[in-house]
Amino acid sequence: MGSAALLPLLLALGILHNCCEAYNVRLLEAKIFSGPSAEQFGYAVQQFVNDQGKWLLVGSPWSGYPANRTGDIYACPVGTPKTTCNKLNLEALINIPNVTEIKEDMNLGLTLIQNSKTGGFLTCGPLWAQQCGRQYYATGVCSEISPSFQILRT
Ligand SMILES: *[C@@H]1O[C@H](CO)[C@@H](O)[C@H](O)[C@H]1NC(C)=O
Ligand SMILES: *[C@@H]1O[C@H](CO)[C@@H](O)[C@H](O)[C@H]1NC(C)=O
Repeated sequence: MGSAALLPLLLALGILHNCCEAYNVRLLEAKIFSGPSAEQFGYAVQQFVNDQGKWLLVGSPWSGYPANRTGDIYACPVGTPKTTCNKLNLEALINIPNVTEIKEDMNLGLTLIQNSKTGGFLTCGPLWAQQCGRQYYATGVCSEISPSFQILRT
């Protein structure tokens, strides 16, 4: 009862004015990006801006399923009418030279973090492995991606 009485009082005093100003989320114009749930599309999501516009970066760590679970990142354009996302194919582009890489189940896109220093982002495939003879060393792999979706370092 106390808080029920308090609210009109605060409104009358104008104390809540700023905090309670109404705004509308325009549901009719909401934009929906869809992807296969079996590929865990949407596991990680980041808002992203580069000189080409605004994006929603979407991690899909089981991309390739059921053949494999390589994973990938999608860039979905926010400022345009398009509702389809670009697969960045980072799973193919991320390479550690001169080692036998096992990428089939690396789950790229499980980690997706913006990097304010580069203006790009960091993504990881925690189950990436290197094969040495009959041994597998599953160290995982992380890559820094530039604002224009190029690999800076892995
Ligand atoms: C994973 O499977 C997809 C779809 O079959 C294929 O295009 C891709 O090359 C495979 N990736 C690896 C690393 O085997
Ligand atoms: C990979 O191997 C090639 C040929 O042996 C060598 O020239 C090159 O420097 C190696 N690259 C790295 C990153 O070790």
